[in-house]
Amino acid sequence: MRNEVEVSVPPSPVDQPAEYAGMTGALVLALETSCDESAAALMRGRQLVAAEVFSQVAIHGEYGGVVPEVASRNHLRALRPVLDAVLGNAGVGLSNLDAVAATSGPGLATSLMLGLSLAKGIAVALRKPFLAVNHIEGHLLSPFLSELAGPCDSVGLVVSGGHTLLVRIHGTGRYRLLGRTLDDAAGEAFDKVGKLLGLSYPGGPNVNRLASTGDPARFRFPRSMLSSGDYDFSFSGLKTAVRYMLPDLDPVPVADVCASFQEAAVDVLVHKALRAVRDAKVDTLAISGGVSCNTRLRERFAAECAAAGVRLLLSPSALCTDNAAMIAYVAALRLEAGFSSQLDTEVFPSLKGGGWFS
Ligand code: KG4
Ligand code: ZN
Repeated sequence: MRNEVEVSVPPSPVDQPAEYAGMTGALVLALETSCDESAAALMRGRQLVAAEVFSQVAIHGEYGGVVPEVASRNHLRALRPVLDAVLGNAGVGLSNLDAVAATSGPGLATSLMLGLSLAKGIAVALRKPFLAVNHIEGHLLSPFLSELAGPCDSVGLVVSGGHTLLVRIHGTGRYRLLGRTLDDAAGEAFDKVGKLLGLSYPGGPNVNRLASTGDPARFRFPRSMLSSGDYDFSFSGLKTAVRYMLPDLDPVPVADVCASFQEAAVDVLVHKALRAVRDAKVDTLAISGGVSCNTRLRERFAAECAAAGVRLLLSPSALCTDNAAMIAYVAALRLEAGFSSQLDTEVFPSLKGGGWFS
Protein backbone atom coordinates (compact mmCIF):
# COMPACT_ATOMS: atom_id res chain seq x y z
CA MET A 1 0.00 0.00 0.00
CA ARG A 2 1.37 3.44 -0.94
CA ASN A 3 2.80 5.62 1.80
CA GLU A 4 3.11 2.86 4.38
CA VAL A 5 6.28 3.49 6.33
CA GLU A 6 7.15 1.59 9.49
CA VAL A 7 7.74 4.42 11.90
CA SER A 8 8.39 2.99 15.33
CA VAL A 9 8.71 -0.30 17.14
CA PRO A 10 9.36 -0.43 20.86
CA PRO A 11 11.73 0.66 22.23
CA SER A 12 11.39 4.11 20.68
CA PRO A 13 14.52 5.48 18.97
CA VAL A 14 15.68 7.32 22.08
CA ASP A 15 14.89 4.60 24.58
CA GLN A 16 17.12 2.24 26.51
CA PRO A 17 16.24 -0.45 29.05
CA ALA A 18 15.32 1.41 32.25
CA GLU A 19 16.89 0.80 35.60
CA TYR A 20 13.30 0.56 36.88
CA ALA A 21 12.20 -1.92 34.20
CA GLY A 22 8.58 -2.95 34.18
CA MET A 23 7.60 -0.34 36.73
CA THR A 24 3.82 -0.14 37.25
CA GLY A 25 2.10 2.37 39.54
CA ALA A 26 5.05 4.76 39.17
CA LEU A 27 4.53 8.47 39.87
CA VAL A 28 5.52 10.21 36.63
CA LEU A 29 5.87 13.97 36.15
CA ALA A 30 5.58 15.21 32.55
CA LEU A 31 6.27 18.65 31.07
CA GLU A 32 4.98 19.88 27.70
CA THR A 33 6.38 23.04 26.08
CA SER A 34 6.31 22.28 22.36
CA CYS A 35 4.49 25.45 21.30
CA ASP A 36 2.64 28.09 23.31
CA GLU A 37 1.21 26.09 26.22
CA SER A 38 3.31 25.49 29.34
CA ALA A 39 1.89 22.32 30.84
CA ALA A 40 2.69 19.84 33.61
CA ALA A 41 0.92 16.66 34.66
CA LEU A 42 1.32 13.88 37.19
CA MET A 43 0.28 10.31 36.54
CA ARG A 44 0.35 7.37 38.96
CA GLY A 45 0.49 4.21 36.88
CA ARG A 46 -2.03 4.98 34.12
CA GLN A 47 -4.16 7.18 36.37
CA LEU A 48 -4.04 10.94 35.88
CA VAL A 49 -3.47 12.58 39.28
CA ALA A 50 -3.15 16.29 38.40
CA ALA A 51 -2.70 18.45 35.31
CA GLU A 52 -2.13 22.16 34.74
CA VAL A 53 -1.88 24.21 31.53
CA PHE A 54 -0.80 27.81 31.27
CA SER A 55 -1.98 28.99 27.85
CA GLN A 56 -0.17 31.84 26.11
CA VAL A 57 -3.01 32.32 23.61
CA ALA A 58 -3.88 35.81 24.89
CA ILE A 59 -0.22 36.86 24.64
CA HIS A 60 0.24 35.64 21.04
CA GLY A 61 -3.23 36.84 20.01
CA GLU A 62 -1.79 40.35 19.82
CA TYR A 63 0.57 39.18 17.04
CA GLY A 64 -1.98 37.03 15.20
CA GLY A 65 0.12 33.88 15.68
CA VAL A 66 2.80 32.27 17.84
CA VAL A 67 6.07 34.25 18.07
CA PRO A 68 8.79 31.71 18.99
CA GLU A 69 10.93 33.99 21.16
CA VAL A 70 7.90 35.31 23.04
CA ALA A 71 6.79 31.70 23.58
CA SER A 72 10.12 30.64 25.12
CA ARG A 73 10.30 33.70 27.39
CA ASN A 74 6.83 32.91 28.68
CA HIS A 75 7.61 29.22 29.20
CA LEU A 76 10.49 30.39 31.37
CA ARG A 77 8.06 32.46 33.46
CA ALA A 78 5.26 29.89 33.60
CA LEU A 79 7.06 26.58 34.11
CA ARG A 80 7.85 27.00 37.80
CA PRO A 81 4.31 28.05 38.86
CA VAL A 82 2.75 25.32 36.67
CA LEU A 83 5.07 22.70 38.18
CA ASP A 84 4.38 23.93 41.74
CA ALA A 85 0.62 23.89 41.07
CA VAL A 86 0.60 20.33 39.80
CA LEU A 87 2.69 19.04 42.71
CA GLY A 88 0.60 21.09 45.17
CA ASN A 89 -2.72 19.81 43.78
CA ALA A 90 -1.51 16.23 44.08
CA GLY A 91 -0.04 16.82 47.55
CA VAL A 92 3.37 15.42 46.56
CA GLY A 93 6.91 16.77 46.44
CA LEU A 94 9.67 16.29 43.86
CA SER A 95 11.23 13.61 46.05
CA ASN A 96 8.12 11.42 45.58
CA LEU A 97 8.61 11.18 41.81
CA ASP A 98 9.64 7.88 40.19
CA ALA A 99 10.34 9.29 36.70
CA VAL A 100 10.35 12.59 34.80
CA ALA A 101 9.27 13.07 31.18
CA ALA A 102 9.10 15.91 28.67
CA THR A 103 8.17 16.49 25.04
CA SER A 104 11.27 16.40 22.83
CA GLY A 105 9.53 17.26 19.53
CA PRO A 106 8.13 18.11 17.11
CA GLY A 107 7.61 21.77 17.96
CA LEU A 108 9.48 25.06 18.39
CA ALA A 109 13.10 24.21 19.24
CA THR A 110 13.57 27.03 21.76
CA SER A 111 10.33 26.15 23.53
CA LEU A 112 11.04 22.41 23.56
CA MET A 113 14.48 22.98 25.09
CA LEU A 114 13.01 24.62 28.19
CA GLY A 115 10.71 21.76 29.20
CA LEU A 116 13.21 19.09 28.16
CA SER A 117 16.11 20.68 30.06
CA LEU A 118 14.05 21.19 33.20
CA ALA A 119 12.83 17.57 33.10
CA LYS A 120 16.37 16.26 32.58
CA GLY A 121 17.64 18.45 35.46
CA ILE A 122 14.99 17.14 37.86
CA ALA A 123 15.64 13.52 36.77
CA VAL A 124 19.40 13.90 37.26
CA ALA A 125 18.98 15.56 40.67
CA LEU A 126 16.61 12.80 41.81
CA ARG A 127 18.60 10.00 40.08
CA LYS A 128 15.37 8.80 38.47
CA PRO A 129 14.60 7.72 34.87
CA PHE A 130 14.07 10.42 32.25
CA LEU A 131 11.73 9.93 29.27
CA ALA A 132 11.64 11.98 26.05
CA VAL A 133 8.18 11.80 24.48
CA ASN A 134 7.05 12.52 20.92
CA HIS A 135 4.31 15.18 20.98
CA ILE A 136 2.40 13.51 18.13
CA GLU A 137 2.52 10.15 19.91
CA GLY A 138 1.04 11.98 22.91
CA HIS A 139 -1.91 13.23 20.84
CA LEU A 140 -2.27 9.87 19.07
CA LEU A 141 -2.61 7.85 22.28
CA SER A 142 -4.65 10.39 24.29
CA PRO A 143 -8.02 8.85 23.27
CA PHE A 144 -6.91 5.61 24.99
CA LEU A 145 -6.32 7.25 28.39
CA SER A 146 -9.67 6.08 29.69
CA GLU A 147 -9.30 2.57 28.19
CA LEU A 148 -8.26 0.01 30.80
CA ALA A 149 -6.46 -2.11 28.23
CA GLY A 150 -4.54 0.85 26.75
CA PRO A 151 -3.84 1.42 23.03
CA CYS A 152 -5.32 -1.29 20.78
CA ASP A 153 -5.19 -2.31 17.13
CA SER A 154 -6.81 0.71 15.45
CA VAL A 155 -6.49 3.69 13.14
CA GLY A 156 -5.57 7.07 14.65
CA LEU A 157 -6.41 10.47 13.17
CA VAL A 158 -4.36 13.36 14.57
CA VAL A 159 -5.75 16.77 13.60
CA SER A 160 -3.81 19.61 15.18
CA GLY A 161 -2.52 23.07 14.33
CA GLY A 162 0.77 21.73 13.02
CA HIS A 163 -0.08 18.23 11.77
CA THR A 164 -2.78 16.15 10.11
CA LEU A 165 -1.95 12.44 10.08
CA LEU A 166 -3.61 9.09 9.63
CA VAL A 167 -1.73 6.39 11.51
CA ARG A 168 -2.20 2.64 11.79
CA ILE A 169 -1.79 1.81 15.49
CA HIS A 170 -0.70 -1.78 16.18
CA GLY A 171 -0.15 -1.11 19.92
CA THR A 172 1.96 1.19 22.08
CA GLY A 173 5.04 2.32 20.15
CA ARG A 174 4.08 0.39 17.00
CA TYR A 175 2.76 2.79 14.40
CA ARG A 176 2.59 2.94 10.64
CA LEU A 177 2.12 6.29 8.94
CA LEU A 178 -0.70 5.93 6.41
CA GLY A 179 -0.99 9.51 5.21
CA ARG A 180 -0.47 13.15 6.10
CA THR A 181 -1.23 16.60 4.82
CA LEU A 182 0.82 17.65 1.83
CA ASP A 183 0.48 21.36 2.73
CA ASP A 184 -1.52 23.06 5.51
CA ALA A 185 -2.60 21.14 8.60
CA ALA A 186 -6.35 21.14 9.30
CA GLY A 187 -5.95 23.48 12.30
CA GLU A 188 -3.73 25.79 10.26
CA ALA A 189 -6.51 26.05 7.63
CA PHE A 190 -9.09 26.88 10.34
CA ASP A 191 -6.73 29.54 11.75
CA LYS A 192 -5.98 31.07 8.34
CA VAL A 193 -9.66 31.21 7.38
CA GLY A 194 -10.37 32.81 10.79
CA LYS A 195 -7.71 35.42 10.03
CA LEU A 196 -9.18 36.10 6.55
CA LEU A 197 -12.55 36.71 8.23
CA GLY A 198 -10.98 39.07 10.79
CA LEU A 199 -11.56 36.69 13.73
CA SER A 200 -9.19 36.68 16.68
CA TYR A 201 -6.38 34.12 17.03
CA PRO A 202 -6.60 31.15 17.09
CA GLY A 203 -9.30 31.08 14.41
CA GLY A 204 -10.34 27.42 14.92
CA PRO A 205 -12.58 27.81 17.99
CA ASN A 206 -14.08 31.06 16.59
CA VAL A 207 -14.86 29.52 13.19
CA ASN A 208 -16.49 26.60 15.07
CA ARG A 209 -18.59 28.96 17.22
CA LEU A 210 -19.79 31.09 14.28
CA ALA A 211 -20.40 28.04 12.07
CA SER A 212 -23.01 26.78 14.53
CA THR A 213 -25.39 29.54 13.36
CA GLY A 214 -24.41 29.37 9.67
CA ASP A 215 -25.61 27.41 6.64
CA PRO A 216 -23.10 24.68 5.71
CA ALA A 217 -24.65 24.31 2.24
CA ARG A 218 -24.51 28.03 1.30
CA PHE A 219 -21.11 27.72 -0.44
CA ARG A 220 -19.69 24.59 -2.06
CA PHE A 221 -15.96 24.64 -1.24
CA PRO A 222 -13.53 22.07 -2.71
CA ARG A 223 -12.98 18.71 -0.99
CA SER A 224 -9.35 18.22 -2.07
CA MET A 225 -7.95 14.73 -2.66
CA LEU A 226 -11.23 13.09 -1.71
CA SER A 227 -10.77 10.50 -4.45
CA SER A 228 -6.96 10.45 -4.58
CA GLY A 229 -6.87 6.77 -3.60
CA ASP A 230 -4.38 7.38 -0.79
CA TYR A 231 -4.63 8.66 2.78
CA ASP A 232 -2.99 12.06 2.22
CA PHE A 233 -4.73 15.40 2.73
CA SER A 234 -4.49 18.90 1.28
CA PHE A 235 -6.16 21.90 2.90
CA SER A 236 -4.44 24.85 1.21
CA GLY A 237 -6.80 24.80 -1.81
CA LEU A 238 -9.80 25.01 0.52
CA LYS A 239 -8.31 28.02 2.33
CA THR A 240 -7.47 29.68 -1.02
CA ALA A 241 -11.02 29.10 -2.30
CA VAL A 242 -12.33 31.01 0.73
CA ARG A 243 -9.79 33.80 0.12
CA TYR A 244 -10.74 34.23 -3.56
CA MET A 245 -14.45 34.27 -2.81
CA LEU A 246 -14.44 36.88 -0.03
CA PRO A 247 -13.93 40.01 -2.22
CA ASP A 248 -17.13 39.11 -4.13
CA LEU A 249 -19.25 39.14 -0.98
CA ASP A 250 -20.58 42.39 0.49
CA PRO A 251 -21.45 42.10 3.29
CA VAL A 252 -19.62 38.84 4.04
CA PRO A 253 -22.03 36.25 5.51
CA VAL A 254 -19.40 35.24 8.07
CA ALA A 255 -21.40 32.47 9.75
CA ASP A 256 -22.28 30.84 6.39
CA VAL A 257 -18.65 31.02 5.20
CA CYS A 258 -17.49 29.44 8.50
CA ALA A 259 -20.12 26.68 8.31
CA SER A 260 -19.43 25.91 4.62
CA PHE A 261 -15.64 25.88 5.12
CA GLN A 262 -15.93 23.70 8.23
CA GLU A 263 -18.23 21.25 6.44
CA ALA A 264 -15.74 20.85 3.58
CA ALA A 265 -12.80 20.26 5.98
CA VAL A 266 -14.77 17.79 8.12
CA ASP A 267 -16.10 15.95 5.03
CA VAL A 268 -12.57 15.13 3.87
CA LEU A 269 -11.44 14.05 7.34
CA VAL A 270 -14.47 11.77 7.81
CA HIS A 271 -14.19 10.25 4.34
CA LYS A 272 -10.47 9.46 4.51
CA ALA A 273 -10.40 8.29 8.13
CA LEU A 274 -13.30 5.88 7.62
CA ARG A 275 -11.73 4.53 4.45
CA ALA A 276 -8.50 3.90 6.36
CA VAL A 277 -10.45 2.01 9.04
CA ARG A 278 -12.24 -0.07 6.42
CA ASP A 279 -9.03 -0.87 4.52
CA ALA A 280 -7.15 -1.74 7.72
CA LYS A 281 -10.04 -4.04 8.77
CA VAL A 282 -9.97 -2.73 12.35
CA ASP A 283 -13.00 -1.74 14.39
CA THR A 284 -11.63 1.29 16.28
CA LEU A 285 -10.92 4.88 15.20
CA ALA A 286 -9.08 7.13 17.70
CA ILE A 287 -9.24 10.89 17.04
CA SER A 288 -7.06 13.49 18.73
CA GLY A 289 -5.44 16.94 18.38
CA GLY A 290 -6.77 20.49 18.77
CA VAL A 291 -9.19 20.30 15.84
CA SER A 292 -10.88 17.27 17.42
CA CYS A 293 -12.45 19.82 19.86
CA ASN A 294 -14.56 20.89 16.88
CA THR A 295 -18.21 20.19 17.69
CA ARG A 296 -19.24 19.52 14.06
CA LEU A 297 -16.30 17.13 13.61
CA ARG A 298 -17.31 15.23 16.77
CA GLU A 299 -20.95 15.12 15.67
CA ARG A 300 -20.16 13.93 12.12
CA PHE A 301 -17.70 11.26 13.25
CA ALA A 302 -20.14 10.02 15.92
CA ALA A 303 -22.89 9.62 13.31
CA GLU A 304 -20.72 8.11 10.55
CA CYS A 305 -18.92 5.70 12.88
CA ALA A 306 -22.22 4.53 14.37
CA ALA A 307 -23.57 3.93 10.86
CA ALA A 308 -20.44 2.01 9.85
CA GLY A 309 -20.23 -0.03 13.09
CA VAL A 310 -16.89 1.55 14.01
CA ARG A 311 -15.97 2.14 17.66
CA LEU A 312 -15.07 5.82 18.01
CA LEU A 313 -12.60 6.99 20.66
CA LEU A 314 -12.41 10.77 20.92
CA SER A 315 -9.97 12.56 23.21
CA PRO A 316 -11.88 14.28 25.99
CA SER A 317 -12.12 18.00 25.08
CA ALA A 318 -9.60 19.03 27.77
CA LEU A 319 -7.02 16.68 26.23
CA CYS A 320 -7.54 17.68 22.57
CA THR A 321 -5.35 20.78 22.61
CA ASP A 322 -1.79 20.67 23.92
CA ASN A 323 -1.45 19.29 27.45
CA ALA A 324 1.02 17.31 29.56
CA ALA A 325 -1.38 14.51 30.57
CA MET A 326 -0.94 12.90 27.14
CA ILE A 327 2.85 13.12 27.52
CA ALA A 328 2.68 11.57 31.02
CA TYR A 329 0.51 8.75 29.60
CA VAL A 330 3.03 7.82 26.90
CA ALA A 331 5.85 8.03 29.46
CA ALA A 332 3.92 5.78 31.86
CA LEU A 333 3.36 3.18 29.10
CA ARG A 334 7.06 3.22 28.14
CA LEU A 335 8.17 2.93 31.74
CA GLU A 336 5.77 0.02 32.26
CA ALA A 337 7.32 -1.66 29.22
CA GLY A 338 10.73 -1.21 30.84
CA PHE A 339 12.24 1.68 28.91
CA SER A 340 13.53 5.16 29.57
CA SER A 341 15.48 7.66 27.41
CA GLN A 342 19.10 8.67 27.14
CA LEU A 343 19.94 11.90 28.95
CA ASP A 344 21.62 13.28 25.83
CA THR A 345 18.35 13.08 23.82
CA GLU A 346 18.00 16.31 21.85
CA VAL A 347 14.97 18.30 20.76
CA PHE A 348 13.73 17.80 17.19
CA PRO A 349 11.58 20.53 15.61
CA SER A 350 10.09 18.62 12.65
CA LEU A 351 8.01 15.46 12.46
CA LYS A 352 10.84 13.70 10.63
CA GLY A 353 13.34 14.31 13.42
CA GLY A 354 13.94 12.12 16.41
CA GLY A 355 13.64 8.89 14.44
CA TRP A 356 9.95 8.24 15.12
CA PHE A 357 8.50 9.29 11.78
CA SER A 358 11.39 8.84 9.34
O1 KG4 B 1 -3.15 20.19 19.15
P1 KG4 B 1 -3.03 21.66 19.25
O2 KG4 B 1 -3.34 22.30 20.58
O3 KG4 B 1 -1.62 22.17 18.84
C1 KG4 B 1 -0.78 21.58 17.94
O4 KG4 B 1 -0.11 20.58 18.30
O5 KG4 B 1 -0.76 22.08 16.80
O6 KG4 B 1 -4.01 22.26 18.13
C2 KG4 B 1 -4.24 23.62 18.00
C3 KG4 B 1 -5.14 23.81 16.79
C4 KG4 B 1 -5.29 25.27 16.38
O7 KG4 B 1 -5.11 25.35 15.00
C5 KG4 B 1 -6.72 25.59 16.78
O8 KG4 B 1 -7.32 26.59 15.98
C6 KG4 B 1 -7.39 24.26 16.57
O9 KG4 B 1 -6.47 23.33 17.08
N1 KG4 B 1 -8.67 24.18 17.28
C7 KG4 B 1 -9.87 24.07 16.65
C8 KG4 B 1 -10.85 24.07 17.67
N2 KG4 B 1 -10.22 24.17 18.87
C9 KG4 B 1 -8.89 24.24 18.61
N3 KG4 B 1 -10.17 23.97 15.34
C10 KG4 B 1 -11.47 23.85 15.01
N4 KG4 B 1 -12.47 23.86 15.92
C11 KG4 B 1 -12.21 23.96 17.25
N5 KG4 B 1 -13.20 23.96 18.15
ZN1 ZN C 1 -0.28 19.48 19.71
